[in-house]
Amino acid sequence: QLADPNVTEADLLADPAAKIARVKGTPHPSIPAPRDIFPGRVNSGGLDLQDAAVLHPLAKTLAATPLPAAAKVPDVAAAITAAHAAAETWDRVPVKARAACLDRLADLMEMHRTELMAICVKEAKKTIPDALAEVREAVDFCRYYAINARAQFAPLPLPGPTGERNELRLGGRGVFAAVAPWNFPLAIFIGQVAAALVAGNSVLAKPAPQTPLIAKRAVELAYEAGIPKDVLHYLPGGPEVGRAIVADARVTGVAFTGSTATAKAIARSLLDDDNRPIVPLIAETGGINAMIVDSTALSEQVVADVVTSAFRSAGQRCSALRLLLLQDEIAERTLHMLIGAMETLVIGDPADVRTDVGPVIDEAAYQRLEDYRQSAKSRWLHALDAPAGGGLFIPPTVIGLDSIEELTQEWFGPVLHVATWKAGELEDTVRRVNAKGYGLTMGLHSRIASAADRVIAEAKVGNLYVNRSMIGAVVGSQPFGGEGLSGTGPKAGGPHYLLRFASERTVSIDT
Ligand code: NAD
Ligand code: ALA
Repeated sequence: QLADPNVTEADLLADPAAKIARVKGTPHPSIPAPRDIFPGRVNSGGLDLQDAAVLHPLAKTLAATPLPAAAKVPDVAAAITAAHAAAETWDRVPVKARAACLDRLADLMEMHRTELMAICVKEAKKTIPDALAEVREAVDFCRYYAINARAQFAPLPLPGPTGERNELRLGGRGVFAAVAPWNFPLAIFIGQVAAALVAGNSVLAKPAPQTPLIAKRAVELAYEAGIPKDVLHYLPGGPEVGRAIVADARVTGVAFTGSTATAKAIARSLLDDDNRPIVPLIAETGGINAMIVDSTALSEQVVADVVTSAFRSAGQRCSALRLLLLQDEIAERTLHMLIGAMETLVIGDPADVRTDVGPVIDEAAYQRLEDYRQSAKSRWLHALDAPAGGGLFIPPTVIGLDSIEELTQEWFGPVLHVATWKAGELEDTVRRVNAKGYGLTMGLHSRIASAADRVIAEAKVGNLYVNRSMIGAVVGSQPFGGEGLSGTGPKAGGPHYLLRFASERTVSIDT
């Protein structure tokens, strides 16, 4: 049922843009079209409202779809045995053929876009624009890694003296574990899987326990695209399944995205057994991401970018803004405008095209965030109201801090912290953010070029955004990933990513 009684699904199908514009009083929802940088990409452009209209009944149908059962630990052992046996044969498949499977998978995901979006809305509680962006990113990962594999995995001739031929060859490492989070349950899941597969590895793919259904569908499409079943194994379940996978000495690499604590637990597990080979861990984790705003910044742009960065996706992005640092002379004015902008946010059902902020992922996340919010109530600068009728809604909230150091952990929801700094303290402010030890994203709003240069030189983060929002890294244009407590790299969607999934072998022949 649509929230506004004046708008029916039939209305939407007949004239979606006009109806929604009338009801919401704003232009119809759209997300910026990422630049069309990849050959064959057909998915760019704004949100297609026909999709949104089709999505309503589809999301309802899917609400009744049972989720697949978790794999039990014995299934994990059997899957590892099969993956191990299949790895060598898969590695011998020419890279062009492996890359062609990724291209077909991308095509299939585009073909099934509406269904995949609906599962994301239902299972991960994504808003419709976020669900579309999710499918788009998954498609981009497949196409980008296919392009890179074809370019990077051909034998590389190297120099040598006359009579000696040197060559560098890349191949699979064996069995790769792909352990994914719930917040990008299709894009990150399939990004890890696609990279490992195209590099010549067999894959144990473990989605987060909150989002098994979208991962299951993606794996079905991968089989349809030509990935052999013994090469790719779908292993849903919770941490116990993840632990069983990474503890097995036959696993020769791990791609993980999730919390810093879990990344450290996996790193320890990989070193547990003295006889186990040393294997790579690609870890992408969280951050305490700050945006620094100086007195020259354009207030309207700052406010729009803060709202997007802190509250879109209900703040459930690792890249999201957690700590807004305002130069003191503009703090009051900026906060006043920010509060005004927050008041226009629509909190509600993610399957409703008008929703800006949906619920958080589950009861545990809701309780954690709500307890924190209530404990900080005396410091609220502003908080929206939760919609009537209950649900896992954390209303966007702004909390004032006395110092940068007060924020010591990542709060994974629509909760923004604000502190101020004084003229002359720009570099020191960046250093104090660096000192937290995380290094994922940072934002700067300033119209002084030298200020931007100083922040670029000083910031210890993987992704720095100047005069724009801090979320939504585009595959191939903004390779994504952090440093320090935020991850190991190499960056997803970047030119070095695949290389970490590969073994490098130098061959020298005396001719
Ligand atoms: P999480 O660490 O709880 O879980 C992530 C995955 O690891 C899940 O599949 C989980 O079942 C599995 N897991 C948990 N314990 C394990 C263990 N001991 N061994 C093996 N696997 C184990 O994280 P989450 O709550 O699902 O995701 C939210 C976190 O992810 C946030 O901190 C967020 O910042 C981070 N994140 C980072 C990025 C990035 O690219 N840097 C992207 C998205 C999310
Ligand atoms: N890649 C995601 C973003 O940039 C996490 O928001």
